[in-house]
Amino acid sequence: MVTAKIAPSLLSGDFSRLAEECERMARLGADYLHMDVMDGHFVPNLTLGAPIIKSLRPHTKAFLDCHLMVSRPEQWVDDFAAAGADLFCFHHEATADAAALIARIHAAGMKAGMAIKPATPVDVVYEFAPALDQVLIMTVEPGFGGQAFMPECMAKVSALRARFPDLDIQVDGGLAPDNIEVAARAGANVIVAGSSIFNAPSPAAVIELFRKAVTD
Ligand code: DX5
Ligand code: ZN
Repeated sequence: MVTAKIAPSLLSGDFSRLAEECERMARLGADYLHMDVMDGHFVPNLTLGAPIIKSLRPHTKAFLDCHLMVSRPEQWVDDFAAAGADLFCFHHEATADAAALIARIHAAGMKAGMAIKPATPVDVVYEFAPALDQVLIMTVEPGFGGQAFMPECMAKVSALRARFPDLDIQVDGGLAPDNIEVAARAGANVIVAGSSIFNAPSPAAVIELFRKAVTD
């Protein structure tokens, strides 16, 4: 059985106080801290890279779930491992040799995740899933926080869950109290959320609501 893991996306946090934001989310019940890495090429936005992960690492023991929305993810494996990333999630669309990349991530001492964009069929993941620690089914076009959840992506989550009962299946983009049931029912157990957690009057209550939806 898979367990619920709630992963606030620091993209919605205050970047001028990133270490405090990480600490705050961990204290409020986060299981993972989701770090969105964007290169201005794979996606039309630019965020953070390994130097920021390295700066944060001494300030938090939390699991750093790094989502690399970058072209040529291979070039960053060693830097993220050295920086202290716990999980390196790359996009299937961004690499020509996913098997080799997964092996390199593991050899570098990190867990390996593979993400797919909304238009990518879930079938591409199947051959790699046994070697992966987590699969991320994007529920918005990657690039920005605050977009609307795409319920049509849930068929991919269900299909993946039917084949891999023990796999950590992550959803990312637009997750909120009004759609968490749909995602949980489809079989998602790792929930990323930026705006719905950070903009809530009680982020802890939203984290608990997500956990309950996945667990029940
Ligand atoms: C989008 C990022 C997400 C984003 C989620 O490309 O991968 O992690 O921060 O933010 P919300 O929950 O606001 O959609
Ligand atoms: Zn993300």
